[in-house]
Amino acid sequence: MSFSQDFIDKVLEANDLVDYISQDTQLKSSGGGGGSQLMGICPFPDHIENTPSFSVSSSKQVYHCFGCQKSGNIITYLREMRGLSFPEAIEQLANKAGIPIPKDEMPRREVDKEVSRKKEMVALNEMARVAFHKNLMELPKSHAVWQYLQKREFSEEIIAEFELGYAPDDWEQLSKKIMGRSKSLELASQVGLVRKRNKGTGFYDLFRNRLMFPIVSHKDECVGFGGRVLSKEDQPKYLNSPDSDVFHKGRLFYGLDKAAKYIRSADKVVIVEGYTDLIALYQAGIRCVVATLGTALTAQHAKLLKRYTRNVYVLFDGDGAGRRAAERSLPILLTEGLFPKGLILPDKVDPDEFLKAEGPEELRRLLSTSPDLFELILIENLKGFGGHASEKVQILEKLTPVLHSITDKRLLGLYLQSIAGRLNVTPEWAWKSIKNSKPKEPQQQATARQKTEDNQGVRELPESLIDLSKATKIEIELINVCLLNESALQMVIDYEAGAEMATATGAQVLGLIVERYGQMPSKFDTLTAYLQSRVEPRELVAKHLKKPLSEMESEGAKKLVNECVKRLKAAKLRQKQREYANKLADPSSKNMAEQLEQIMNIHKSRHSLNRENGSEE
Ligand code: CTP
Ligand code: MN
Repeated sequence: MSFSQDFIDKVLEANDLVDYISQDTQLKSSGGGGGSQLMGICPFPDHIENTPSFSVSSSKQVYHCFGCQKSGNIITYLREMRGLSFPEAIEQLANKAGIPIPKDEMPRREVDKEVSRKKEMVALNEMARVAFHKNLMELPKSHAVWQYLQKREFSEEIIAEFELGYAPDDWEQLSKKIMGRSKSLELASQVGLVRKRNKGTGFYDLFRNRLMFPIVSHKDECVGFGGRVLSKEDQPKYLNSPDSDVFHKGRLFYGLDKAAKYIRSADKVVIVEGYTDLIALYQAGIRCVVATLGTALTAQHAKLLKRYTRNVYVLFDGDGAGRRAAERSLPILLTEGLFPKGLILPDKVDPDEFLKAEGPEELRRLLSTSPDLFELILIENLKGFGGHASEKVQILEKLTPVLHSITDKRLLGLYLQSIAGRLNVTPEWAWKSIKNSKPKEPQQQATARQKTEDNQGVRELPESLIDLSKATKIEIELINVCLLNESALQMVIDYEAGAEMATATGAQVLGLIVERYGQMPSKFDTLTAYLQSRVEPRELVAKHLKKPLSEMESEGAKKLVNECVKRLKAAKLRQKQREYANKLADPSSKNMAEQLEQIMNIHKSRHSLNRENGSEE
């Protein structure tokens, strides 16, 4: 699987890294000349900071964080920040820039029937989303669907932003449209838009007379729908797209496509249970919010959230179902090392009703003071606790699976203390009785999950990356000077310094630089971004973005090249000398005299190298 480097270059050139990063963090020109260096708060969720240490070079199209050391180019950014795979990133960039992807440029799996089938499935959903939204916008405000939206107090902006729609009270409007565009009704039935008639031939529409909520993936593709009835008599209240090859309720959140950037900047996420709750919170300005799709929270959900933040607020309805769902989500969130907090609303109201009754400020206040979800569940379990020994044992038994799911030892210790205090037992006793009832399956479950995920190719690499950590310090320094300064690179080429590299890895990477620079000398600035996609760990080719290297002028850079080359030569000579010395020490070796002479020669070379250097190495 590979796009040609030419195609990748074309796509990269047509996009600006700064545009993408600006969506996630505010960038300001960082003093000094040029203005091509920008600084901002690091957008990566695992790095929390108050003073900006994230730098972006618009001329070199790379980023580097001085705080967490992450660095990369636009592709690595899309992969790590947006969770796209390499081909997905290239595709999105090409689409953004309006560059068609030629068939023969498609990665092998892209021409697969399987993949084009999935694309067609998404295309059908996209078509339906546009049609549903258009329906809604063309209806008079007196229509029942608008009446309902007004009752819910959804603003026009929100309706447009979430592209809400209307599926008409008609059995074949959509089916006809699909046929009219000669798209496959068979595929449309697989994504749950239509269904085959039992009697006779043909298909009929599944969503009828419903308010439609399009569900959009992190790739910005419409993968499914939720459709709500307009009158209480109709059933079921919500009709959701069935799980299909493009739609997995256990791996998707409603609203994440819009909330992602707010989740990052707030470093927290609120989970609600429904479409309307999500929209209500979002409209009230609490935008770091996602909703599950009518199913329980899964380990995959938790993994997905962990890409954005570890602070998770579970905001569920105050009814029994909401409480049980909150309780079930606790071990799942803890297993992933997240920090779940919980807010169960009073009087069986749901978040939307609460907002209408109490206002956003009150909800914000409750959220900010909400306890750890564990405490909340503990308190629930203590209801009616009379202090009897048998109750203590039972409560502890009930909490055991949750306690076993806690990956953070410090957290476990604190929770044990809390349990012990409330049950009036010692933490040691609580710990002992929990330890003795080891859970059996979680480990197996975890590995099984891992396997399915690996199969989905989440961790896909563009091609095998070169492990630059195998190179020596001096080699890495030389590589960075080459990336920093064009005349330094020219000098390295003139010197044929590649031959002096100490390791095969160092030589390979320098070779890449020289080769690419040779192909397009006018694109010196793009070398860093290019290398960022070829080596690992990437920060090793970002050292020139940092002081003191970044401030070095041509003369200094050239001097440094000289010094590096000399040190590389010296290291080589030392190595040879050692080899000969070893041979000499071997009593079975022949040609003693010859070898002795070799050693003398090496010694002389090292000496003259040192004199040139003007220093002892
Ligand atoms: N849900 C579902 N199927 C149903 C009922 C509910 O899939 N028959 C899912 C939907 O995702 C819904 C969520 O569960 O958004 C919460 O359900 P509920 O609280 O009943 O609905 P609300 O979102 O509160 O919807 P509304 O306020 O419009 O009644
Ligand atoms: Mn509701």
